[in-house]
Amino acid sequence: MSKNKNADTATTLVIFGATGDLTRRKLIPGLFSLFGKGLLPSRFAVVGSARTEWSSEDFRAEMRKSMDEFGPEKLDENAWAKFADCLHYLPGNATKTADYESLRGFLEELEGGEANRLYYLSTAPRFFEEIVTLLYETGLTVEEGDVWRRVVIEKPFGHDLASARALNEVVHTVLDEHQVYRIDHYLAKETVQNILVFRFANTMFEPIWNRNYIDHVQITVAELVDVGHRADYYDQSGVLRDMFQNHLMQLLAFVSLEPPASFDADAIRDEIAKVLKAIRPLTAAEIKSQTVRGHYDGYCETEGVADDSETATYAALELYIDNWRWRGVPFYLRSGKALATKTSEIIIQFKEPPHMMFTIPRDEPIPANYLALCIQPHEGFHQRIELKEPGQAVKLRSVDMDFHYEEVFQPDSVPEAYETLLHNALEGDATLFTRSDGIEAAWRVIDSVLQGWASEAAPPLVGYDPGSWGPAEADELLKQNGRRWRHSCVDE
Ligand code: BG6
Repeated sequence: MSKNKNADTATTLVIFGATGDLTRRKLIPGLFSLFGKGLLPSRFAVVGSARTEWSSEDFRAEMRKSMDEFGPEKLDENAWAKFADCLHYLPGNATKTADYESLRGFLEELEGGEANRLYYLSTAPRFFEEIVTLLYETGLTVEEGDVWRRVVIEKPFGHDLASARALNEVVHTVLDEHQVYRIDHYLAKETVQNILVFRFANTMFEPIWNRNYIDHVQITVAELVDVGHRADYYDQSGVLRDMFQNHLMQLLAFVSLEPPASFDADAIRDEIAKVLKAIRPLTAAEIKSQTVRGHYDGYCETEGVADDSETATYAALELYIDNWRWRGVPFYLRSGKALATKTSEIIIQFKEPPHMMFTIPRDEPIPANYLALCIQPHEGFHQRIELKEPGQAVKLRSVDMDFHYEEVFQPDSVPEAYETLLHNALEGDATLFTRSDGIEAAWRVIDSVLQGWASEAAPPLVGYDPGSWGPAEADELLKQNGRRWRHSCVDE
C-alpha cells in the first residue's frame, strides 16, 4: 500500500552523478521495470545531473544505448519511448551553489507546481556532505504542506567509524532522519527479506534459533569477478569496507536479530541496531586467531593497484554476539573477489544429536542438520536431514529438503534489488535502508578489525589462487574447532 498521502502530486527523482555507471546499470533499468509494472507515480520525472554537458536528448540516447546491455532481453520500444519522455538532464557542478539555484528553476518549470522530490546521491562519496549541505542551504530540502523531500545516499557511508559519525552528524544537521535513505542493496535482495518471513512467519524455526541448538552460523558472499576497472576505488577500500561493513553485517543482523514487533521500518531497524551493537569487537589478542586476510595472486599487477599494496580482497572473520540468544555461538563470515564462483549464502549449522542410538561405524562423524539460505544466484532454501536408507540394515543417509524460487515462481519474478529500493524510497518505506545507529554499530566492529590489521598483531596477508575458494588459512580457522566451510547452495 502506498505510504504517500499525495499519490497524484508530481514526483521528481534527481540523480546527482547521473553520467556514472550506477545510473545506466541499475537505476534506469530499475525505473523502466517499475514503469512497465505501473509502479511509478502517475506524474513522474527523472532529472539527471552531472558535470558532463549533455542535453536531455543526449541523456535519453545514452540511456537507451545502455538498455541494450543492462535492460531486459527484449526491450519494448513503445514502452521505452513513453518512459524516455520522463527523462531530463541538466548539467551542473554539485559543489557550486549557483548550480543548485539553476536546478531549482529547472525543477519548478518542469513540475509546474507542488511536487515531491527524491534526490539520489550517486556521486563519489567525498561529495556527500557537500551535496546534502548545499541542498539544504538552497532550500531544496524543505518539506511544506504534504510534499516530501527525501535523499538517497549511496554507499560507502564513511571510511571508518569516525568518518561515518561525522557524515551522520552533517546529515542530521540538515535533514530529519525520516528524509534519509542510506543504500545497502543487499537488503533489497528477495531472499534477504525472506529471512525475516522464514523466521517469523513460521513457528517451527524460532524455538531452535539459538545457542541451545545452533552450533555456528556461516555467511559467505563469494564473487567470481576480480577488481577489474575499479582498482582506484577498491585499493583504497578493500574487502572489509567494500563488503563486510555493509552487506555481510546486514546479513548477520537479519539472521540473528530478535523478533521485531511489527514489519515497520523503525521496529526492524531498532532490532538491527540492537544486535549489531551486541557484536563483540575484536581485541588485539583475537585479531590473529579470529581473522584471515588475503589477496588473490596477481592483484598487485592490476592497473591502478600499488605494487606493494596490502589491500585485502578476501577476508574471513569469526565473530560473537554477546547476548542471551547467541552467547558462545561463532558467526563465521567470509567474502572475496576472484573466487571459484558467485554465491551468497547463509548456513545455520545445528548441533549434533546428543546421543546416537543407531550403530554407525565408529570413525564416521555423526551428521548434524543444517539449513542453507541461498541468497543468490539460486535463490531458495535447503534443509539437510538424516534418513534411513531402504533395506534391512539401519544405514543413515543425508538428504536435502529444498525449495527454489525458480521452480515455484514465474521466471523473472524476483525483482532486481535497485528496482525494489527505488520503489520503496518513492513510497516512503525505509525498512530496507540502513539507519545511522545501525551503520555506526557495524563500523564499530569493522573498525576493530581494520585497526588490528594495521597493527603489529595483524595476521599475515596471504595469497590465494584466483578461481579457488580463498586461502587455506580460512579453512584452518574453522578446522581448528572441527568445523568446515560449506558451499551448500552451489554443489553439495
Ligand atoms: C557492491 C561492491 O556493493 O556489491 C562490489 O562495491 C560488489 O565490489 C557488489 O561486487 C556485489 O553485489 P552483488 O549484488 O553482485 O552481489
